Amino acid sequence: MKIALIGFMGSGKTLFGKALSKFLNYPFIDLDKYIEKKYNIKIPQIFEKYGEKFFRELEKKEFLNLKRKYKNLVLSVGGGFPCYRNNMHLLKKDFFVVYLYVPFEKSYFYIKNDKNRPLVKKGKKFLKKLYEKRFPIYKQAHVTLLADIPIKELIKKFLKIIKNKRKYL
Ligand code: S3P
Repeated sequence: MKIALIGFMGSGKTLFGKALSKFLNYPFIDLDKYIEKKYNIKIPQIFEKYGEKFFRELEKKEFLNLKRKYKNLVLSVGGGFPCYRNNMHLLKKDFFVVYLYVPFEKSYFYIKNDKNRPLVKKGKKFLKKLYEKRFPIYKQAHVTLLADIPIKELIKKFLKIIKNKRKYL
């Protein structure tokens, strides 16, 4: 089974992904971290040097590679990934897609001082708009989980849901 975690920056995709992968005994990959390691460059530098469009193409390319490579996987993708071109469709085709929903103010609180997220420096107003624009796309996930709860509870909630989703196993 391949599981993809989507959601706005600061929704806890990496934290949840790591915990879930341990629980399921699946590999965990954070697409951004994977790209940074593979190309030996940080995400903000990619944005600065080559621009956002280039980054979007790169994340798509690496996503497609990973999708082919793994049978079982917990994959966390950057907040913009599902919203670019037909990526949400691609995700839903091969992955059980989980939207980790966290209200904007909470997400913003977690990311506001983060220098590793190039979009954060565009300011709160910009991020709020982006959040609202992306929300209807994220909502197309197979399930939406209110993620603003302790990690153990979140795992429990998720396991209850996938018990009834045998077709994805
Ligand atoms: C982005 C989110 C980031 C990263 C990049 C762009 C976005 O990932 O991919 O900075 O467009 O929302 P996280 O959601 O893991 O912070």
